[in-house]
Amino acid sequence: MQTLTVSLPGRSYPVYIGRGILSRAGEMIRRHLGEVTVCVITDDHVAPLYLGKVIASLKEAGLKTASISLPHGEQTKSLDSLKFLYDFLCARHITRKDVILALGGGVIGDLAGLAAATWLRGIPLVQAPTSLLAQVDSSVGGKVAVDLPQGKNLVGAFHQPSLVLCDPDTLDTLPEEFWRDGMGEVVKYGCIADEALFALLEGAATGGREAVSRHMDEILLRCIAHKAGVVAQDELDTGWRMTLNFGHTLGHAIEACQHYDGLRHGEAVSIGMAAITRLTEAQGMTAPGTAQRLENLLHALHLPTAIPDIPFGDLLCAMSRDKKSAGNDLRLIALDRIGACRIITATPDFYRPLFQPEQTSGRAE
Ligand code: NAD
Ligand code: GLY
Repeated sequence: MQTLTVSLPGRSYPVYIGRGILSRAGEMIRRHLGEVTVCVITDDHVAPLYLGKVIASLKEAGLKTASISLPHGEQTKSLDSLKFLYDFLCARHITRKDVILALGGGVIGDLAGLAAATWLRGIPLVQAPTSLLAQVDSSVGGKVAVDLPQGKNLVGAFHQPSLVLCDPDTLDTLPEEFWRDGMGEVVKYGCIADEALFALLEGAATGGREAVSRHMDEILLRCIAHKAGVVAQDELDTGWRMTLNFGHTLGHAIEACQHYDGLRHGEAVSIGMAAITRLTEAQGMTAPGTAQRLENLLHALHLPTAIPDIPFGDLLCAMSRDKKSAGNDLRLIALDRIGACRIITATPDFYRPLFQPEQTSGRAE
């Protein structure tokens, strides 16, 4: 088992990464949080696979349990689900001394996290991420939220977990499309901060999921270590944490323009990373050859790089609603080279060259 720490003043917490660690959830929670009641929140894909194991471990450690399984999918990240959870927590008499354990992907982590942030003005949260995206990104750092019909993650909070239990074995059952989504975020870490990770992925990607998975322990460690460092430096996302949004401005705009019913998040971010790198390289901000190297890796992982057929005006509108905007300008993340990045400020028009006929190499026809 490997342990990383998210260092925050007075609120540091461990991230335990280990195969089979879900079977030790009870012992770990008891050690860190004492004799609590653990309320496990999960979804109907994850529950049949892992809930029994977690509940058995909690009981074995002498902890009282409650559990609830919600429908899988982004629609569950809603105010209606939050209200449903409040009713459940109320019925089970969950107090401030008790704990919510989020067992699942990013949807469950964000929703259960917001319930923990707000129930009785905040109770302890344990994240047990089971998707690749949740393991490398959403379970660490304290961002919790639900969606509104008007947009994603519009109601949320910062609520750091008390501990994170990351079990790489759970990835064996993760469906292919969600594995690819997570790989988009893994590539992101290689791009912004870790050339050795990027090179490892380049070496393994042509061998497919099986070859990449052989390196999963190292991949998780590198990604989570980077995220933990960034969160420690900028918990509330006012500065360097924005670099985690490399490729996300255009990616989010594509998702919004397709009403979250088109490309998946990881696919949209893949396109966003490739697009901005083509642009910054053309402008001399990024080392020559970086865009091609990035596109080669994304293609080897079966992630797309071509911008779908969406009118530029629609994408501009969506980008100008980006949470990272500074007045009329956008804060964008540009690579200096693979493994190093910086924050730049640009107007949304920055993306226009990608939509002009003479430079449409990256556009879907
Ligand atoms: P998800 O939670 O919907 O999980 C993907 C699918 O895989 C679901 O159907 C789920 O039931 C299933 N699943 C999860 N683990 C499994 C396993 N081990 N075996 C089999 N099936 C499994 O989606 P996601 O991609 O994990 O997360 C996406 C969400 O994360 C979005 O709502 C996004 O906004 C959020 N997010 C949050 C942050 C943050 O910092 N809080 C960061 C990035 C993304
Ligand atoms: N997923 C981006 C962040 O946590 O800031």
